[in-house]
Amino acid sequence: MPYKVPFVNYPLQYSNLKKEIDDKIQSLLSKGDLYLREDCIKFERDFATFIGSKFGIGTNSGTDALIFSQYAAGIGKGDEVITVGHTYVATIASIVHNHAAPILIDVGEDYNMNVDLLEEAITPRTKAVIPVHLNGRCCDMDGIMRIAKKHGLLVIEDAAQAVGAKFNGRTAGTFGITGAFSFYPAKVLGCYGDSGFITTDDPILAERLYLLRDNGEKAKYLMKDPEEASDKKIYLFGFNSVMDNIQAGVLNVKLKYLTKWLDRRREIAKIYHEELSEISELRLPPPPTTNSKYHDVYQNYVIRLKERDRLVDFLEKNGVETMISWKTPNHFQKALKLDHFKLPATERISNEVVSLPMYPELTNQQVEYVIDVIHKFHKEFW
Ligand SMILES: Cc1ncc(COP(=O)(O)O)c(C=O)c1O
Repeated sequence: MPYKVPFVNYPLQYSNLKKEIDDKIQSLLSKGDLYLREDCIKFERDFATFIGSKFGIGTNSGTDALIFSQYAAGIGKGDEVITVGHTYVATIASIVHNHAAPILIDVGEDYNMNVDLLEEAITPRTKAVIPVHLNGRCCDMDGIMRIAKKHGLLVIEDAAQAVGAKFNGRTAGTFGITGAFSFYPAKVLGCYGDSGFITTDDPILAERLYLLRDNGEKAKYLMKDPEEASDKKIYLFGFNSVMDNIQAGVLNVKLKYLTKWLDRRREIAKIYHEELSEISELRLPPPPTTNSKYHDVYQNYVIRLKERDRLVDFLEKNGVETMISWKTPNHFQKALKLDHFKLPATERISNEVVSLPMYPELTNQQVEYVIDVIHKFHKEFW
């Protein structure tokens, strides 16, 4: 039986944009614009402008954006990189793929890096810190940048879940040496497959990143001297991880709607907050506010409660699909050999959080329905 309120609804967004998307894809196919063409170049420029960074490098995933950020910064064997345990595994994998050691610390009440734990995790081998702006909320970047500066650490932001989120008026992805973004379909800005992005203000890093994602070759549009084109010069050993031009075309169509979609997410968060905050057993994300330190974009609307599993079953039975990120913390995943980390907050969170449906196409009636089901659960079981 289809859900009354599915957790994501890709076909609905597509049907709303069908003409524009179809026209874009057909035009790219007809012209044969498949690799590093106009759409890729345009998206790199426009998304970097949206974020407020000087350079934008399209990649084939957020994971590669994280891997390349560290690689380009010279992070490698013998280095330690501090990040959180409560994140998508790709953050940690990106450190391991650079042959550095991931050092996992715990998160605070807002599911983001607990800055109070950062300094004690620093050793002489620490080279960088990767704050993860989870669920569309920025980390406390004042605290993180202050400690990083004091200890000479590089900051690489995992902004995969934070397109458009702000801290003190500054956009996620503009604090560190780089910001890494993901356009996985369920993201705030999602493509029809995989792609990612790196933002940076550093021209030297940018140049290295453009090369890294394209097997060490310089794309024509990046050449200052047209003579370079005939050289076919390989500048370094790189990877095959260019942003797909068709995905870039899709993202160019969607980028026009991004601000409107972010506003709608905040509107839905406001409704959830207004109508669920009276249930004392539930912990909700902070409501959207203006003029505060945090401008959240609600990539996920995560609620927290002791009776999580019973509520998830109840919602499911009533036609509401939910998602749990993550039921098994990364340091409990045996294959990853991270069980030497003790992360009590992360462990508690894994038993208590669930994400409610949150996407701009949700109708107010659907949001009200989810709220009603939760109230019903409250009446029956609490
Ligand atoms: C916090 C975080 N980091 C990294 C990634 C990796 O991005 P991608 O799936 O585009 O490789 C994701 C994507 O889900 C994520 O949520």
